[in-house]
Amino acid sequence: MPVTSGPTPLIIDCDTGIDDGLALLYACASPGAEIVAVTCTAGNVDARQVAQNTRAVLELAGRTDVEVALGREVPLARELITTPETHGPLGIGWAELPPTSMPLSARHSADLIVEEARRRPGGITLVTLGPLTNVALAVLREPELPRLLGRLVIMGGAYRVPGNTTPVSEWNIHVDPEAAQVVFRAWMSAIGRDASVPRALALGLDVTERARLLPGHLAALGRRAGTDGAALEARVRSAEGPAPANPVLRYLADSLRFYMEFHAKADGFYGAFIHDPLVVAVALDETLARATPVAVDVEVAGEVAAGQTVADWRGLWQRSPNADVAAEVDAGAFLDRLVDRLGGLAARAAGVAS
Ligand code: BDR
Ligand code: CA
Repeated sequence: MPVTSGPTPLIIDCDTGIDDGLALLYACASPGAEIVAVTCTAGNVDARQVAQNTRAVLELAGRTDVEVALGREVPLARELITTPETHGPLGIGWAELPPTSMPLSARHSADLIVEEARRRPGGITLVTLGPLTNVALAVLREPELPRLLGRLVIMGGAYRVPGNTTPVSEWNIHVDPEAAQVVFRAWMSAIGRDASVPRALALGLDVTERARLLPGHLAALGRRAGTDGAALEARVRSAEGPAPANPVLRYLADSLRFYMEFHAKADGFYGAFIHDPLVVAVALDETLARATPVAVDVEVAGEVAAGQTVADWRGLWQRSPNADVAAEVDAGAFLDRLVDRLGGLAARAAGVAS
């Protein structure tokens, strides 16, 4: 990560999505983040709905000034699949958000990424929270992108653990494996040409499934916002719980209730893996994670292993590492930070001193 003073300039590429929405709110609530733009990709829901959700969440946080762009609306080589069972039919669980008044950027996401990276060489941290379609297009347009970015931070992959979509593939890679392969290989070749190019930082399920948000965190967040924490916890546990008057708290409780219900069925606990906010938190403060350099490639043609992120832990390929794969994360510190920052954001939205 380049040494910078002041906030970290971020472009967030996402498929909003419940945990993506939470990640956007986390970025908005982080004094160390300068959100340069948000680019939308199809994944959890279709790309148009992602663009709608993204703008509505930014508007909820009072950030109508952020540029939001749309790119290619389907994966590079496959039909789009979405996951309404995980994120709800519109991608925001049981929450409802008013139609957004924010315009969509006239720029294509891939152009935006390339133009901003060229404008601030080494300055931008690009954080991806969805399939890598936009980044693949960007690096196909500008092969020097790995050198032009300060850092690429990826939520994607399952490196030493099973997948969550097939036995070996994680959702973001699974939706567009060809794009993921383009990206990991582009970083591989750029590093091969110039060893000073920063490796991508990849956070897979190995670490993101350690970030477990539980109803008790909502109670703490409600208290931090200056409200009745028990009431917020009751609302995330059941629709019978009292609806918060605070729009940020209401959005959080109603979107996360859906996500927690999903995890109760799929993963055996009433709570949620909050993959994407963890990745934004690490992009802003890499001391939260410990990562190992390794060469990573992506399987696209396998009969049973398409979408697998294959990491050469033993160096058998004899290639320079193109990624730092996160192995450990301080989930406790991250969750405390999330509760504090989102609680503070909610307090400010309600005009309560924070
Ligand atoms: C990833 O898949 C999506 O459903 C989440 O938003 C996250 O980015 C986790 O596998
Ligand atoms: Ca996501």
